[in-house]
Amino acid sequence: MFLTTAHVRKKETVAQNCFTLSLHEEKIASHCTPGQFVHVRLSAGYDPFLRRPFSIAAADPAEGVFRLLIQVVGEGTRLLQRIQEGQTLDCLGPLGSGFIPGEAPYFLVAGGIGAAPLIFLAQALSKQNQPVRYYYGTASAAERVSLHAWLPTAIEQIDATEDGSKGFSGRVTAAVNRDILQGKKPGQIMACGPQAMLQELVRLNAAWKVPMQFSLEERMACGTGACQGCAVEIAEETGATNFLRVCREGPVFEAHKVVEFHANASN
Ligand SMILES: Cc1cc2nc3c(=O)[nH]c(=O)nc-3n(C[C@H](O)[C@H](O)[C@H](O)COP(=O)(O)OP(=O)(O)OC[C@H]3O[C@@H](n4cnc5c(N)ncnc54)[C@H](O)[C@@H]3O)c2cc1C
Ligand code: FES
Repeated sequence: MFLTTAHVRKKETVAQNCFTLSLHEEKIASHCTPGQFVHVRLSAGYDPFLRRPFSIAAADPAEGVFRLLIQVVGEGTRLLQRIQEGQTLDCLGPLGSGFIPGEAPYFLVAGGIGAAPLIFLAQALSKQNQPVRYYYGTASAAERVSLHAWLPTAIEQIDATEDGSKGFSGRVTAAVNRDILQGKKPGQIMACGPQAMLQELVRLNAAWKVPMQFSLEERMACGTGACQGCAVEIAEETGATNFLRVCREGPVFEAHKVVEFHANASN
């Protein structure tokens, strides 16, 4: 983990309320793995006081550059949207524990801005010649980031929109279910997205029985494991449960261990 000053090389608007930052900072770019994040300070003063976490969406160690994909949802991300190329950003990272290799073929399931950590993962898996299907769901086409520039061409991308304006018409989880019912069996599912999407994957997985890893998004304070503010209840193999920190032991957890999804599934 490094506390560093990253230089904004490039800033681009990529969708409605969504932009990317290409940040030059060699230590983070060369030490990060898919699923890890950076904790970003938003102002030189104390307002807002807390940093904000963002997944690393791509990294190029040779260039010393990593990329963030950011959706504007509130005060902090609105402030961040004002940053200009050539300015600097105070970043703490890389933080957290990322995705652990599983069994191919990989199905990556992204809901909305949950696309970010899965882009980095798709790029890493593609370098290892692993077969990957990348499912990307949003409410409508206007909210979508064009992933063509991010995803290697070998990766099959399946689009889904809830209003049917692009790709499969319906939820991204229904697109995954359709393909599995048609015989496309994943060895491993990796997912990041809204709580409801992850919950639906858990429900459907009662029939699929595929190992799944989820990248969770909890509100964070310290980001480094000190405050316990981001703890979630995780089941151990023995059946006992423990509170683990999303910022330290996560954000990636094996789905079958995340208690809240299983408590809700049985309701
Ligand atoms: C490990 C991790 C990785 C993340 N990666 C990305 C990413 O790559 N790109 C991206 O755009 N966002 C990402 N997020 C979410 C991002 O951190 C929040 O959107 C951001 O902190 C909101 O700050 P704000 O001040 O703009 O919004 P606030 O004013 O703080 O909140 C606005 C709205 O966003 C919700 N919100 C705030 N923080 C979170 C959070 N941590 N998780 C879920 N909902 C939240 C609030 O409940 C509220 O509805 C990630 C979060 C985590 C924990
Ligand atoms: S945010 Fe402080 S322990 Fe995770």
